[in-house]
Amino acid sequence: MERPIGVFDSGVGGLTVLRELARVLPGEGFLYLGDTARVPYGTKSTETITRYSIEIANHLITRHDIKMLVVACNTASSLALPVLRKIYKIPVVGMVDPCVRRVASLEKKASIGVIGTTGTVRSGAYEQALRQAVPKARVTVRACPLLVSLAEEGWAEKPVTRDVIAEYLSPFRKDPPDALILGCTHYPVLKKPIAGFLGEATVLVDSGEEAARVVGALVSGNGTEKGTRAPHIRFLVTDDPERFSRVGEIFFGRRMDSVERVTL
Ligand code: DGL
Repeated sequence: MERPIGVFDSGVGGLTVLRELARVLPGEGFLYLGDTARVPYGTKSTETITRYSIEIANHLITRHDIKMLVVACNTASSLALPVLRKIYKIPVVGMVDPCVRRVASLEKKASIGVIGTTGTVRSGAYEQALRQAVPKARVTVRACPLLVSLAEEGWAEKPVTRDVIAEYLSPFRKDPPDALILGCTHYPVLKKPIAGFLGEATVLVDSGEEAARVVGALVSGNGTEKGTRAPHIRFLVTDDPERFSRVGEIFFGRRMDSVERVTL
């Protein structure tokens, strides 16, 4: 049996990352775990998020023998990645480094914006990584917690969402950044209104797209064995599968055939 790539998130948002992974790596099998019983992660402490992440990683590794762990949740990536990398031998891919790598590769990168949950912003993980990779850049970081709920409501096109985006991104109104890192699983579905506010000159960096590049390189290099079968995706959740399937479609872009409930 070929070993799947494990992907986890606090809930449905990480499906934006899985969607990109499945698109870039059609020969791989994926096992997605959404910790819907304990969502949101964005408001919780480092200790709690680290404990949750370890419980999930243990489950995916011991019960399902995953060959690689993708931490799709930006909050867990920002708070728990170093600990996960220390504990496990399999490759662990987070969202911060792939996004920062993309920013570093841009021609224009004098001013960089980062948006994410309160936990992601509090961690300072993006600022720290950007300081190393693009030391001259002016970095502005903003927590945008309400955007998670607006995305889950499917309200990307509503005026209220445009208003909330305008409020959160007001520091950029007069001077849009060269790039804005969408440092949260939910923001890719809000790309249109965000781009509408900032204008075309700002590059929007999508963590799912960037992480898929990194995972692709690991799979085609020597980082891990390569899958060869038809794509197969299994979905696990820690709470009601019905809500996950319904709301998840907004993020995954298509129906999910079967969703199983698990206890960690
Ligand atoms: N998945 C989280 C993230 O990317 C957003 C939702 C939550 O707060 O759990 O940071």
